[in-house]
Amino acid sequence: MLVCICKGVSDRRITEEIRRGACTVRQIQECCQAGTDCKSCVRQIRQMLTTHSHAHQPATDSP
Ligand code: FES
Repeated sequence: MLVCICKGVSDRRITEEIRRGACTVRQIQECCQAGTDCKSCVRQIRQMLTTHSHAHQPATDSP
């Protein structure tokens, strides 16, 4: 599914960038240009960052 229509960037691509370490909208924009044109997809990118970034966080309460 395309998230950024202007730049033709799919949700898969954005998820991949998040997995590689992108943790801000700016970083996503720099990596794949998504959200750099009309910006209507920025909200969705931000939402994806919130959803996916939690998986990266190391468990802090483990012994
Ligand atoms: S849809 Fe992403 S910048 Fe326009």
